[in-house]
Amino acid sequence: MKYTVVPALNDEEFGEKAADVFLRALGSFEKTPSVVLPTGNTPLPFFAVLRERAQSQALRPFNSLQLDEYLGLPDGDARLFSRWLAHEVLDPLKISSRMIFNSAADPSEEVNRIKAWHALNGAMDLAVIGIGENGHVGFNEPGAKFDHRANIVTLSGQTIEANTSYGRGDVPRKAITLGIGDLRRAYETILLVRGERKAEILAKAMLGEVTTDIPASYLQQQPRLTIVADTAALSKMPRDIIFK
Ligand code: F6R
Repeated sequence: MKYTVVPALNDEEFGEKAADVFLRALGSFEKTPSVVLPTGNTPLPFFAVLRERAQSQALRPFNSLQLDEYLGLPDGDARLFSRWLAHEVLDPLKISSRMIFNSAADPSEEVNRIKAWHALNGAMDLAVIGIGENGHVGFNEPGAKFDHRANIVTLSGQTIEANTSYGRGDVPRKAITLGIGDLRRAYETILLVRGERKAEILAKAMLGEVTTDIPASYLQQQPRLTIVADTAALSKMPRDIIFK
């Protein structure tokens, strides 16, 4: 196995360890790195530690790239991932360089704009991602091709239900996501996983067949991957992988 697993006993340790791994990765790039960050529940302790550290030390700036966004929401809507991420981490860290998706734009024009942007700017340096219980990454739902670039997706019922837990109102049915084809080109990847309900899919994604049925299984082929996960999420991973 080529990847490194960083286990954490609880949310606090998860946040600290994820921040350590992230800041070390940021510091390893010569130029200001381009970075994808996920929204969702998983990264919250990690973002909390970044906010805390930003108060006592100057953190390395980065160019933030949006990973995914619901479609059809107006500016300022509480459900917007761009707004969530801004509030949780980008504003507190004073990250001003942001490539944001426009939820209210014409979807196919917006996808073309995002694709053109990525074609012009090349591969991202660092992808920090979460995983859905169905194995999705970003909004790449099961079946998404590994060479897909930015595209419009219809969210699965399972994803809509999971995201209802964010408590921000009705979950839109359509979204834009960077494709696995974009994420695969990242120089370095950090996967964040928390909670027992992710244990089974994490083990399947990392130990099973590499298949589009489990989009996150592409991670097995990433050259530089670190998994930061709590012990509940790691409960179905063999000990020799965790403690190499
Ligand atoms: C969010 C995203 C999703 C989440 C995944 C896990 O931007 O891209 O793939 O990372 O659904 O969500 P949580 O962390 O809420 O369990």
